[in-house]
Amino acid sequence: MWKPAERIRFEPARGNMPTADQARASQLFSPVSLGPLTLRHRTWVPAMVPWRSNEDGEVTEDVIQWYARFAKGRPGAIVIEATGIRDVPSGPLLRIGDDRYVDGLRRLTRAVNEASGGHTRLLIQIIDFLRIRRRPDPRTFFERHLTLTPALLARAGLTGQSEPAAREALLALGAAGWAQVLDPRDRQSLEFGARESVNDLHLPHIQSLPRELPSLFSQAARRSRDAGFDGVELHYAHAYTMASFLSTTNQRTDGYGGSREARVRLPLEVYHAVRREVGSGYAVGCRFLAEECIDGGTEVGDSLWYGVQFALAGMDFLSTSRGGKFDDAKQPSVGQAAYPYTGRSGYECMPQYLSDAQGPFGRNRAATAQIRQAIRAAGCTTPVVCTGGVHNFEFAEGMLAAGDCDVVGTARQSLADPDWALKTLLGRADAVRLCEYTNYCEGLDQKHKQVTCQLWDREDLDEPDIRLSHDGKRRLVAPTWKDAPAGFDQ
Ligand SMILES: Cc1cc2nc3c(=O)[nH]c(=O)nc-3n(C[C@H](O)[C@H](O)[C@H](O)COP(=O)(O)O)c2cc1C
Ligand code: SF4
Repeated sequence: MWKPAERIRFEPARGNMPTADQARASQLFSPVSLGPLTLRHRTWVPAMVPWRSNEDGEVTEDVIQWYARFAKGRPGAIVIEATGIRDVPSGPLLRIGDDRYVDGLRRLTRAVNEASGGHTRLLIQIIDFLRIRRRPDPRTFFERHLTLTPALLARAGLTGQSEPAAREALLALGAAGWAQVLDPRDRQSLEFGARESVNDLHLPHIQSLPRELPSLFSQAARRSRDAGFDGVELHYAHAYTMASFLSTTNQRTDGYGGSREARVRLPLEVYHAVRREVGSGYAVGCRFLAEECIDGGTEVGDSLWYGVQFALAGMDFLSTSRGGKFDDAKQPSVGQAAYPYTGRSGYECMPQYLSDAQGPFGRNRAATAQIRQAIRAAGCTTPVVCTGGVHNFEFAEGMLAAGDCDVVGTARQSLADPDWALKTLLGRADAVRLCEYTNYCEGLDQKHKQVTCQLWDREDLDEPDIRLSHDGKRRLVAPTWKDAPAGFDQ
């Protein structure tokens, strides 16, 4: 992963630890309404893909155990990982693109409800993504993938050659020659793997996205309601389709790209379709980027305008993230796919303990605060969730007290210790296992391996009935809180 040149080392801290009385009186542990949905607390576990599904995208026993473990720590809300709205093979990522997924998802909502004793509300993040190919070896690329156009053949001095001869000659040019004759898009496909973009209007299925996505999202949202989720989070962040519509890099010429009014059009149309389908009694919000963190990308000026449009449209909550784009991802090795968290924007999304002077904690706070202010100035009370590097009560409470957000998301801290909020509420913040922001978990995600935390995945491996990773070396869920008070001892 990309790291800032400064490489300053940061360590997490416990901050001021509240007594149980202080915690109970805090904002963090006070209720908040997301439209029709009330959370008991303002603690939120944002979406995290743990690679626990199967090749059919179904809810497995490992998926259930993973989320039930978070639920035992009784956060205000858990958002289930990015779940695909299309019924197409996408490896072990959860899917919600057909009614046959509803039964499995219902088992998941029941298990979470039971594990949290009814304290935690459960949402699901729904996502669309475009096709991305693995980086090809040059021979395969020139023999099979590259489209030979007259312009390319002319640039390479190969006009009139037979196709096999032209392909062989192009392959023989080598890196310096490819740099001269290939157009930027073909070079990108060769060096990184072909990646579809919302700008590819020459491809019929990309052209038709504005016609297809509203119903794909609304049907997925209907299924989420049928499966018993308390709400749905539309994934408008990071490297995926909807974020690409919002991005300044969206140059579509069909009324859905270019100006920011045009860029927000499809995200609003998707939202309205979802709302029509599930009605006003069901919580619907989105996750979007406070900043894209790429050269020339969307900055907070655009995002606060988007936030206001989403709030005015009637979304029940807005959750922010930052970065996580393909645009600046590192070149993958041959045979691997690019991963959108390997460049500077990836660092901004999941900052690590080796950082710049700003450090990895609360990097999304200032931009989110501006978005919230703009929403309030527009007369909307829509709650805003802020995530990024938060790992203790003092920091979380400080964000709420300053009016920077209404709900605090903790992804890796919840992975390091799913009981962190419960321990804090019970006056036992001293017992919290603090995330060290090593990004070991993110490295597993990058390799599409079952995600665990290095602080606990080798602990008590001889416990009866625990489930282990495919290689048998790691436990898949955090150990239970051993000295939990009676009633919380799970
Ligand atoms: C293993 C892993 C998987 C993630 N998967 C998702 C995802 O499915 N959807 C999403 O919006 N963010 C995803 N994220 C980003 C987190 O939700 C969060 O924004 C990020 O980790 C920064 O917050 P933190 O500092 O509290 O960890 C993932 C993060 C990790 C570590
Ligand atoms: S592996 Fe654990 S300690 Fe390291 S960043 Fe992930 S959650 Fe934090």
